[in-house]
Amino acid sequence: MEALSDKRILDSWTKNVSPWAKAIQEKKIESRNLVTDQAIVNLISSFHSNTVLDIGCGEGWLVRELSSLGLSVTGIDAVKGLVDIAIEHGKGVFHVLEYEKISSNTLSEKYDIAVCNFSLLGKESVEHIFNAIPEILNDGGHFVIQTLHPHASCDDAPYVDGWREGSWNGFSKEFVDPAPWYFRTLESWCDLYIKSGLKLNKIEESVNPHTGKVTSLLMVGSVAT
Ligand SMILES: C[S@@+](CC[C@H](N)C(=O)[O-])C[C@H]1O[C@@H](n2cnc3c(N)ncnc32)[C@H](O)[C@@H]1O
Repeated sequence: MEALSDKRILDSWTKNVSPWAKAIQEKKIESRNLVTDQAIVNLISSFHSNTVLDIGCGEGWLVRELSSLGLSVTGIDAVKGLVDIAIEHGKGVFHVLEYEKISSNTLSEKYDIAVCNFSLLGKESVEHIFNAIPEILNDGGHFVIQTLHPHASCDDAPYVDGWREGSWNGFSKEFVDPAPWYFRTLESWCDLYIKSGLKLNKIEESVNPHTGKVTSLLMVGSVAT
């Protein structure tokens, strides 16, 4: 398998189902508790929509959270072990589906909102999602993403798009084989929206209240009419 590839990302997540589910359910990730979980819930709630597709839903926390607010939510993820855990915890509908297979043929309905919360990690798989979004959203629908802020996650590497090795620094010793990820500059994230024919409506930057440093980047686009 190629060292840095979309395929290796899925291989890694398949190996880390249990520690990941534990980390989320035991609220071990401080930035999520302090800032980013509420940021994505607030942003989605601000649209007063009915149906949501959570792309790369993991063990399903966002589906559960939005369902409890009265939204009708479907979660998809390629990793069956994570989807099984999500189903076990109830609330929402879940399917095993790879990003590369997302289309109006593989999904049985269109949605008011498609959301990716820290789930856009690769290269071609992410480009495929952006291309497919217009056909899976209802008219006036929104595509919402939250991702590591490029200014916070660039470290000492040059500020250019490209594959980076992953790391589980700060996570428990149960995690193995960190997934590589494809770094994108802020300009490149904006380009993905624009090139897929979406109108980019909003950018938000969440800040950690303890450190005062930028944490995540949130973006909202809609199907251009
Ligand atoms: C960092 S986790 C985020 C999970 C969840 N959105 C959350 O907020 O906890 C990234 C998720 O993206 C999923 N993922 C990554 N690449 C994928 C692909 N090509 N197809 C489907 N799922 C993918 C992984 O399986 C994993 O569950």
